[in-house]
Amino acid sequence: MSNESNRRNFLKQSGLLTGGALLTTLPSFASSYGFNSSADDTIKVALIGCGGRGKGAALQALKSKQNVKIVAIADAFRDRLDDAYKTLHQNPELAKRVDVPEERKFVGFDAYQKAIPLADVVILATPPGFRPMMFEEAVKQNKHVFMEKPVATDAPGVRRVLAAAEEAKKKKLNVVVGLQRHYQPNYREMIKRIHDGALGDIIGGSVYWVSGGVWVKPRQPNQTEMEHQMRNWYYFNWLCGDHINEQHIHNIDVANWVKRGYPVSAQGTGGRQVRTGKEYGEIFDHHIVDFVYEDGTLINSQCRHYEGTYSKVDEQFVGTKGRVDSFGRQSILKDYKGNSIYTHNGKGDGDPYQIEHDELFAAIAKGEYKFQDAENGAKSTLTAIMGRMATYSGKMVKWDEALNSNIDLFPEKLAWDAKPKLLPLENGFYPVAVPGKTIAV
Ligand SMILES: NC(=O)c1ccc[n+]([C@@H]2O[C@H](COP(=O)([O-])OP(=O)(O)OC[C@H]3O[C@@H](n4cnc5c(N)ncnc54)[C@H](O)[C@@H]3O)[C@@H](O)[C@H]2O)c1
Repeated sequence: MSNESNRRNFLKQSGLLTGGALLTTLPSFASSYGFNSSADDTIKVALIGCGGRGKGAALQALKSKQNVKIVAIADAFRDRLDDAYKTLHQNPELAKRVDVPEERKFVGFDAYQKAIPLADVVILATPPGFRPMMFEEAVKQNKHVFMEKPVATDAPGVRRVLAAAEEAKKKKLNVVVGLQRHYQPNYREMIKRIHDGALGDIIGGSVYWVSGGVWVKPRQPNQTEMEHQMRNWYYFNWLCGDHINEQHIHNIDVANWVKRGYPVSAQGTGGRQVRTGKEYGEIFDHHIVDFVYEDGTLINSQCRHYEGTYSKVDEQFVGTKGRVDSFGRQSILKDYKGNSIYTHNGKGDGDPYQIEHDELFAAIAKGEYKFQDAENGAKSTLTAIMGRMATYSGKMVKWDEALNSNIDLFPEKLAWDAKPKLLPLENGFYPVAVPGKTIAV
């Protein structure tokens, strides 16, 4: 049997070929792009978005136990792509499975469209504003997906991801979302016990991402507005969704996981207290939100970016029989006398960033379909966006209103000389939301 027929059999068994459409697609892409695997079990990966997380995810894919090969890389910017290519060659053992000649390096807004057809699995690690269109395309082309969180920055994007997640389910495509606490042993063990009733009913909680904030890329001479926003993406909502979405989603998602559902409403407060310069675009530096779940449980969410202040990235919950004070620092479920109900000794726990890739690639190799991450990733993203809608508007926002919102942040056109929807004022500052005036949904 030829290598290509061996590979086709492996992919068929493993679910990589699902349905007639792809069975007819593979030979044509194999020939048109010249792929000629020497092994019959190679899983070909394309990396889209070559920044910090994309490089990390690609290395984790290579470190999984399967025969993974990186066959294409794509980025909006050439310098970012070159940097990732270099990083992927730092470990000589892993570098042997990086097979990306110049013709499989793609740059620009359409780079993803050229990389996706070449792979069995795509890693989507661009800023989250691009996730809906890229995930949609990957599913359309029958690819398994690892995609970073959050998975959108506005409600129209969330709806696209939910629709594509349905398609992925029908096609039995594995999708892992980088909400890695779902792959972190202490969270898994503690939340399993909470769901089994160790703390009774969960009736309240608080979730936090309070920290000093992240990088800023000041405007450079000769940059178009589009390039400036793309380079400094954290501070523009069409790309990032604000830090309540970009970072704090991790903790909000833990609340949803613990509650086994999504909040029915949100109200909150937020603003720009210390991070007020032009270089910080439009996002707030703090948000405090009450999320209320169907059974009346109130989870308080707090996130802020103030340099030089107390840091806490963690979750706390109270139940009718006991509480969890911390997932991050102690991993103990306690009763109200302070006795341990369950203590997780984290010794020997694996790295959740590695585990998520190990489980994804093992499932693909075994032909299993076991991930429900896409729908949860979309709904936890919507939870965070609903929090932002509440703090920006100062209004109470209901789940269905948030989900059905038609506020679409994405530019009409993607090109370096095209205009994003949000532009600086004459003084160089960007308009920011004003509670009481800004429309919620
Ligand atoms: N799970 C986690 O703990 C974790 C940690 C860090 C980042 N992330 C997520 O990973 C994603 C990327 O974050 P990062 O820190 O790597 O950012 P980054 O800025 O380092 O990398 C993003 C890369 O995407 C590229 N890019 C932008 N638009 C693109 C497009 N249209 N097509 C192709 N490439 C494009 C950028 O040029 C850049 O190289 C974000 O969604 C972030 O929230 C997750």
